[in-house]
Amino acid sequence: MNKLFCRSFQAVMKLGNYFMGYRMPEYLSGPGSIQKLPEFMLKKGAKKALVVTDKGLMNLGLPNGMLKALEENNIEYVVFSEVKPNPTSSDVEAGYKLYAENNCQCIVAFGGGSPMDCAKGIAAKSAHPHKSVAQLQGLLKVHKRIPLFFAVPTTAGTGSETTVAAVITDDATHRKASINDPSILPKYAVLDPELTVGLPPFVTAMTGMDALCHAVEAYTNYTYTTPLERQLAKDAVKLVHENLLTVYKDGKNIEARQNMLMASFYAGRAFTRGCVGYVHAIGHTLGGLYNIPHGLAMGTLLPHVMRQFGASAHKRLAELADVIGIQGATDAEKADKFITWIEGLKAELGLPVGVEGIKDEDIPQMIEWAMKEANPLYPVPDIWDEADFRKLIESVRM
Ligand SMILES: NC(=O)c1ccc[n+]([C@@H]2O[C@H](COP(=O)([O-])OP(=O)(O)OC[C@H]3O[C@@H](n4cnc5c(N)ncnc54)[C@H](O)[C@@H]3O)[C@@H](O)[C@H]2O)c1
Ligand SMILES: [Fe+2]
Repeated sequence: MNKLFCRSFQAVMKLGNYFMGYRMPEYLSGPGSIQKLPEFMLKKGAKKALVVTDKGLMNLGLPNGMLKALEENNIEYVVFSEVKPNPTSSDVEAGYKLYAENNCQCIVAFGGGSPMDCAKGIAAKSAHPHKSVAQLQGLLKVHKRIPLFFAVPTTAGTGSETTVAAVITDDATHRKASINDPSILPKYAVLDPELTVGLPPFVTAMTGMDALCHAVEAYTNYTYTTPLERQLAKDAVKLVHENLLTVYKDGKNIEARQNMLMASFYAGRAFTRGCVGYVHAIGHTLGGLYNIPHGLAMGTLLPHVMRQFGASAHKRLAELADVIGIQGATDAEKADKFITWIEGLKAELGLPVGVEGIKDEDIPQMIEWAMKEANPLYPVPDIWDEADFRKLIESVRM
């Protein structure tokens, strides 16, 4: 796929994007806001709910307060907690089965990106019960109304509560791919920082880097974004700059936790129109093949990809550098310092410099999947061919 084709496709997409009707979910925020969810749900006409979460959160008892509040408000629910990190198509099928068997009418997604994406997959299935997850993956394959959907993030990173994407790994092939459709964008969300205070420092670090990555990729892609998404991406970078190390060191800082939830939310909205880029395209292959946590893959790859973009990304990276007060005589110098800031942040967060365990025999598959995901859709600063992807992958191997 040559560069000219990619850029022409992107020019058409840019126009098409104006008719997509992207919106932000209506949301509750602030400490303890989860307690207001049942009332909010009743107001929106919610009836029997499927609550989608994961085993780790159930074991921690984190959903208990919300479940109790649902009971007190006579909202019936069934819990599906079999979602794996990097959720799979069989997770979605199992969750959908429970949804259908119990005649549920709305969905509450409670957790990180994994439960939220699985829940979005279940919602997509409920609109197309006879389609497989694979048939729903890709662009605009859902295109139908989904059940009432309430998203409650418990990590501050993916922004899935405000995005059009649900990233699901195919059980058979291990390919990780997105269902991408405005109809699965959640209508309602709860951004309660108290739900994130128990996140261990390493998960806080990884997921925070995911949010940063969304903002940086959406901003450097530039083409599809409007001034709104550009501002949201800048706001997210600033919030990560000011809060990620704080929450890493002091997880109980409620104000900083709320700020990170907002960073994730803004960055999610920014990339919903602006798209992510090669960090995500390559990172998804690491999640699918080796089950590497998404945020870890993002944090590791982000500075490498930005450096390999070279001059093509300097102007936009320099604009992001301005947001966090980095000085420099030229765009190139500011961009370099911005990437150096990301590298320093990674080091302080204890994230690795490169990726261990990439097998020689997997590299052609990684390149094929990454190119399929990104080209021609993602309007990255520089369009890469197979050799460029190989160069990046080789450069991050440890
Ligand atoms: N839909 C999108 O737009 C989008 C964007 C980026 C990433 N993703 C996807 O999201 C997934 C990753 O999500 P994630 O990074 O949020 O991680 P996750 O949902 O996989 O959660 C990681 C771990 O943290 C635990 N956890 C979550 N919240 C916790 C809390 N408050 N306290 C203690 N433990 C907690 C979970 O139980 C789990 O073990 C990936 O599959 C990725 O591809 C989706
Ligand atoms: Fe991401």
